[in-house]
Parts: sequence; C-alpha cells; structure tokens
Amino acid sequence: MSPLHVVILAAGQGSRMKSSLPKVLHKVAGRPMLHHVIDTAQTLGAEKIHGVIGHGADQVKASTTAHSVSWVMQEQQLGTGHAVAQTLADLPDDARVLVLYGDVPLTTAHTLQGLVEDLDEKTLGLLTVTLDNPQGYGRILRNPAGQVTAIVEQKDASAEQLAIKEVNTGILAVSARHLKTWLPQLSSSNAQGEYYLTDIIAMAVQAGMAVNVAQPGNPFEVQGVNNRLQLAELERWYQSREADRLMTEGATLADPARIDVRGELTIGNDVLIDVNVVFIGKVTLGSHVSIGPGCVITDASIADGAQIHAHSIIEQTSVGPNAQVGPFARLRPGTQLAANTKVGNFVETKKTIVGEGSKINHLSYVGDATLGANVNIGAGTITCNYDGVNKYQTVLGDGVFVGSNSSLVAPITVAAGATIGAGSTITKNVSEHELAVARGRQRNVAGWPKPEKH
Ligand code: UD1
Ligand code: CA
Repeated sequence: MSPLHVVILAAGQGSRMKSSLPKVLHKVAGRPMLHHVIDTAQTLGAEKIHGVIGHGADQVKASTTAHSVSWVMQEQQLGTGHAVAQTLADLPDDARVLVLYGDVPLTTAHTLQGLVEDLDEKTLGLLTVTLDNPQGYGRILRNPAGQVTAIVEQKDASAEQLAIKEVNTGILAVSARHLKTWLPQLSSSNAQGEYYLTDIIAMAVQAGMAVNVAQPGNPFEVQGVNNRLQLAELERWYQSREADRLMTEGATLADPARIDVRGELTIGNDVLIDVNVVFIGKVTLGSHVSIGPGCVITDASIADGAQIHAHSIIEQTSVGPNAQVGPFARLRPGTQLAANTKVGNFVETKKTIVGEGSKINHLSYVGDATLGANVNIGAGTITCNYDGVNKYQTVLGDGVFVGSNSSLVAPITVAAGATIGAGSTITKNVSEHELAVARGRQRNVAGWPKPEKH
C-alpha cells in the first residue's frame, strides 16, 4: 500500500482561548491536544507527520521535540486549503494524505482507519458527523442518489443548505497526486476570502471520484476546541471513557464522575478507587489494591493488596504487596516500600528503601535512607540528610527500633537489632544490638516553688 502521510493543521491563533499559550498546547487529560493528534497519527502507521504552524510556532515546536514531526510555516492563515498547500512540496506523489486538526484531539485511530484503509487514486475519504445543532460547520451536500457532491461553508450556505445536519468534521484523506492538482486551483472568492480545503470535494466529484464517507463512533471524537468550555467538555468525555474502561477491567469506582486519569493507568482485578483520585503519568495498580479519596498518584506502581488511604501523595514510588500507606502520607521520588510495610499519617519519604514489614507510622521525615526488614521508626523521627550543601545517607539494619522524636544525623549507620532511645540526636554509628541514647539527662528537683504572677 502507498505510504501514509498525515498533515496536522495547527497554524490558527485560537483567540477565543484568551491565552498566551497556543491553542493546540492546551491540555486534555494532562497532555497537549497536539500530542494526542500526533500519537494517533503514529498509531495509524504514518510514514511522515507534517505539522502546519503559524501562531506560536516556536512554542509549538519546542513542546514537541520528543515527536518526529516535519514542521512547515504558514506565515499568513489564508485558509485550510492554503494550509495544506504548504506541505505539497514535501509529499510524495503516491502518498495517501490524511488531514487532521491540532485542535481536534480525540479522534480514535479506529475511526480514521476507515478513511485511509481503502483509499486509492479513485476515492476521497471524508469524515462527517450528524449534529442536532450544525451551527458553524460546513454542510455536506448530497445528490438525490445520496452521493456527496460538495461541502458548503456556513457563511456561504443558503437557508436551505443551513438546514442540513450532516457536517464536515474537517478530517479527510486523499492521494497527494490529487492535492497537487487541486490545491493550486483553489480560489478565495467566497464569503471569508479564504482558500477552503473543502472545495476539493466538488473537484473530486467533477473528476469522477467516489467520496467515501465515514462517521465517528461518538461526536466528541470530532469535536474541536475553540474555547475553554469546549476544552472542559472534551476533558469530561475523555475521563468518562476512562472510567468506563477501568470498571470494565475490574475496578470499582466510588463515583465514575470523580476520577481523573492523566496518563496510562493499568489495573488488576478487584481494584477499589474512592472519589477524587488523580492518576498522572504511568501508574500500575495490582489486584485488590484500594485507593482512598483524594489521593494523587504519579508514575508509580502499587502491588497486589496494597492499601493507599485518603489524601496520600505518591510520586515515582513502588509500593510493595499488602503495604499500607497514609492517610496523609507523602511518598516522594525514589521511595520503594517492600511487602507488608506501613507508612502512616504525616510521613514524608524521599529516595528511601523500606524493607519488608518495616513501619514508619506517624509524623516523620525519612529521606536518603535504607531501612532493613522489620524496622520500627517512632513518631517524629527525622533523618537529617542535608547539611545545606550535600545530602547524606542513613542506613538502618534489620529490626532496628528508633524511639520517638529522634534525629538521625547522616551519614549514619545503625546496625541490625539496635535501639535508639526516644528523643535522641544520633551522630555516631551504632553497632548491632546496642542501645544508643543521646539526650539531656532528666533532673527532678523536689519542692520546686512555681513562679507566681507579679
Ligand atoms: C473548517 C471547515 C468546515 C468544518 C470545520 C470543522 C474549511 C474551509 N472549513 O472550518 O467545513 O466544518 O472546520 O471544525 O476547511 N488552520 C490553519 N491555517 C489556516 C486556517 C486554519 O492551520 O489558514 C487550522 C486551524 O488552526 C484549525 C483548523 O485549521 O486547527 C480549522 O480551521 P478553522 O478556521 O477552525 O476552520 P473552520 O472555519 O472551523
Ligand atoms: Ca474550527
């Protein structure tokens, strides 16, 4: 089959967003709309992706350095036909060309497959949708036999044509050879003084070609974003689809309308997700995991049977099987909790490995630390890991018990089985099974006269 080239139009200003950010960089599900479109093009197996940019071109380019897109500038936005024409020199004659919009982010590859699959030199693929309110869109004109004959833009349409509810999504596919013939022939003598890409439909029909029409599974797939209300609508549609998927795959959602997935969430069976949980980046939840309300989980893996209680914030962390986290825990990047560990309320960890069965139950900061198995960290323990310039390690062996309100001044090693007395500031290493106490001795003064008010 001939190579597929995808042209993404993204030169428009998007003035109704009222934003200094180019419209196509506004995010749906945590990713710029343009990235969704680029990903879809890649899923379709595009040999090359051409991005037509104008307004905010530098910002758009800078945001997509990880993607391979061939950018072309459209200095003046003279219309969609003019925009596609900017890529002609870069399109091989035999290419199948699919035109997508950078501000229409959620068209599925499945829907587009239908347009490009059977495309040959004798057909043009057009994605249309039937809307109750077709206001603003180009209308699809069909002859009495039901064949598409042309598209007429809203501003050029007669009263009769305006009543048509089948509209142009803007997405179409056709061979490059035809675009090279037709686009130079476009005229701008129309209501908007623009070079309309839509005029090629009538040209195709004139040339005796068939127009193959496809429709999306859901109108949201082809909804463009012109303002922040539409952005929010698409976001909610995306999230409701994600919620449906998760429930189908074995999650119970306390409220399918109150979950946000901004990335890739993979789950096992019997997962329980309470309200207002946000998942960001790549997150994996094993089977029988439960996530309490209000948690934010970013790039993390949570193993089977682990329970994350309310309002915990977890980032770049792996949580082992049957671990208990929170409520109100903050696990920062580089935290690894082994099986059956417990990290309780108001505990912050960072770059810390917590061995099997170990507990940090309350009110602690544990950073740059390695804890063996069955370590118990008392409430209010702090690893003093930073001297203002450098970071140092704290190492606690298996079975170490750290009394409450202790400071462990790193670098420090407390060997297996050792105990730290409560309230200690530990600055020297402790050997196996030693007790270390480092605090002021208590003095009791008998019959001490309490101060009186002057
Ligand atoms: C276009 C279609 C209309 C369709 C509608 C669907 C034409 C003439 N009309 O109208 O039939 O119903 O989309 O939303 O094609 N762009 C450029 N350069 C330009 C002009 C536009 O890159 O010179 C980009 C815009 O950034 C946008 C897309 O093309 O992403 C569509 O442009 P827009 O002006 O929104 O087209 P509509 O008038 O809505
Ligand atoms: Ca538009």
